[in-house]
Amino acid sequence: MSPDNDLNSLINSALDIFKDREVFPVEYKKKKYWVKRGRRSGSNLLQHFAWKMLHFPLLTPAENQSEEESVIYETEKIKRMQSLGIAVPSLVLIEKRFFVMEDVGTPLYILLKKNSNIFPQIYTAIELLGALHRKKEYHGGAQLRNITMKDSELFFIDFEEKFSSEVSLELLQIRDVFMFLLCLSKHNFEYDYHFLLEKYISASGNNDIKKELEKISISLKFVEKILKPELIRNLLDKDTLALAKLLETISYQRLPTKKRAGG
Ligand SMILES: Nc1ncnc2c1ncn2[C@@H]1O[C@H](COP(=O)(O)OP(=O)(O)O)[C@@H](O)[C@H]1O
Ligand SMILES: [Mg+2]
Repeated sequence: MSPDNDLNSLINSALDIFKDREVFPVEYKKKKYWVKRGRRSGSNLLQHFAWKMLHFPLLTPAENQSEEESVIYETEKIKRMQSLGIAVPSLVLIEKRFFVMEDVGTPLYILLKKNSNIFPQIYTAIELLGALHRKKEYHGGAQLRNITMKDSELFFIDFEEKFSSEVSLELLQIRDVFMFLLCLSKHNFEYDYHFLLEKYISASGNNDIKKELEKISISLKFVEKILKPELIRNLLDKDTLALAKLLETISYQRLPTKKRAGG
């Protein structure tokens, strides 16, 4: 990983020009790269408290990291993913406060917003997430904006999220799947719940995922009820509305087939 001096100086001036941006692209010899600065991360007391009370995967508190630590953590994770054969961007340069990686294309959510037909990619993405989980890893931010496509190949990006070693891998993997589904709800992506999860199950080998998602939806039944009335729905922000929709989808799957069909 030894970029030439021209690339180095290009990056240094770009860091100055894009002072306010944490992640930005640069072009060098007609090739695109991304510079990502390290950033502080962590969770506040309220998040820790909410997590202790509810144990809801989306509330899993992130570990505190300094800027430097977040660069080390993310680049080490990218290297590990690469060694496991998971499609991630190649690293070009690692410095104390930032790192540079190759461009791996366009995030799926941008393609979705452009109304591209990305049905096949969504199903491939959940399989890739399953394959990542089979290798005893988790993503930490498994949303469509962190899955990209380049030349019809899918890649995972954005591995900075770090969780306490007290949080089990199993829970972090359920969190990944839940976040992925939540993101589909948020983008109003209509999908076949069972078909999608079967793809995940065969890739990951985790036969318990549907049961685990149901457990979440049962434990959040009260949230689902509070968010049900039309009047309330009109007041909700996009994220909460997506959560309400996803909880409904999961609990709908629990109903016997006859009832589901309205019989
Ligand atoms: N290697 C890359 N290839 C293509 N796009 C990238 C790459 N790295 C970052 N991006 C773009 O920058 C955005 C932010 O980068 P990301 O690592 O996801 O940071 P954040 O933590 O801010 O979400 C991504 O959603 C994507 O659009
Ligand atoms: Mg991201």
